[in-house]
Amino acid sequence: MEKKIQRNDPCWCGSEKKYKKCHSDFDTKLKQLKMDGYPIPPRRIIKTPDQINGIRKSCQLTKSILDDLNDLIKPGITSNEINQYVHRKTLENNAIPAPLDYKGFPKSICTSINEVVCHGIPSERVLKEGDIVNVDVTCILDGYYGDSCRMYPVGKISKNAEKLVDVTKQCLEEAIKAIKPFGSLNIIGETITRIAKKNGYGVVHMFGGHGVGNEFHEEPFIYHSIQKTKQMICAPGMIFTIEPMINEGTGDCEILDDDWTAVTLDHSLSAQWEHTVCIHEDRVEILT
Ligand code: MF3
Ligand code: CO
Ligand code: CO
Repeated sequence: MEKKIQRNDPCWCGSEKKYKKCHSDFDTKLKQLKMDGYPIPPRRIIKTPDQINGIRKSCQLTKSILDDLNDLIKPGITSNEINQYVHRKTLENNAIPAPLDYKGFPKSICTSINEVVCHGIPSERVLKEGDIVNVDVTCILDGYYGDSCRMYPVGKISKNAEKLVDVTKQCLEEAIKAIKPFGSLNIIGETITRIAKKNGYGVVHMFGGHGVGNEFHEEPFIYHSIQKTKQMICAPGMIFTIEPMINEGTGDCEILDDDWTAVTLDHSLSAQWEHTVCIHEDRVEILT
């Protein structure tokens, strides 16, 4: 039998503070929420301050790479060229591109064009005026993962495409604003679905966000659609992604024969934006 942690013992989180001055109130709150029927995060996904600092640095590199792409992505560029740029810049910063060889993925980023929902594989395909492309970058810096993606217009795009891109970004931003420390993750899918539905769009349910930081994909799974069951509590120290994929048509997808590329079943346009966020006692920090 394990002895119950005492108030003056060192905290379980590794901070070297006394338990009573560290995670004692946190444990009391979570215990109550658990009794109310909410799944609570296991301690293994609560990041230490050192881990948060490391993940923040990795996320900053991811962000700066995505910033560079604003000027790089123009009609005539191939998705392979975007891949090469990101690959080189990642290595120059002493980091590793997480997608490369991840479960057999062959490239350093995902490039998802038009009706591609996610996990598009960079190729010799030339981007043309009017395309919309999602670039998803994940760096591993000092062992820590930072995951983010954005949409890039290729030259001038249609009003419809622009609206889809903007509404999808709004879904992400409003979902982040809706999160409350010690509130439940249900609010994320509820917020995204409300905004998508109001605009006549479909929410992709085949993929979700995820815990991230020490590994590429950690618990919990983050639903972008409405869930009837109680989802996990958002506790301080948790780091996860929110990455809504929104379709002009229905939210249904299929995977192509390359076993990666996910496309809309009805061939309608799809957009995605992703941030890595960190939950604090009193706020949610966008790391990317
Ligand atoms: N970056 C993607 C995500 O947001 C995962 C890509 S997995 C890969 O979770 F293998 F396709 F790179
Ligand atoms: Co992700
Ligand atoms: Co990603």
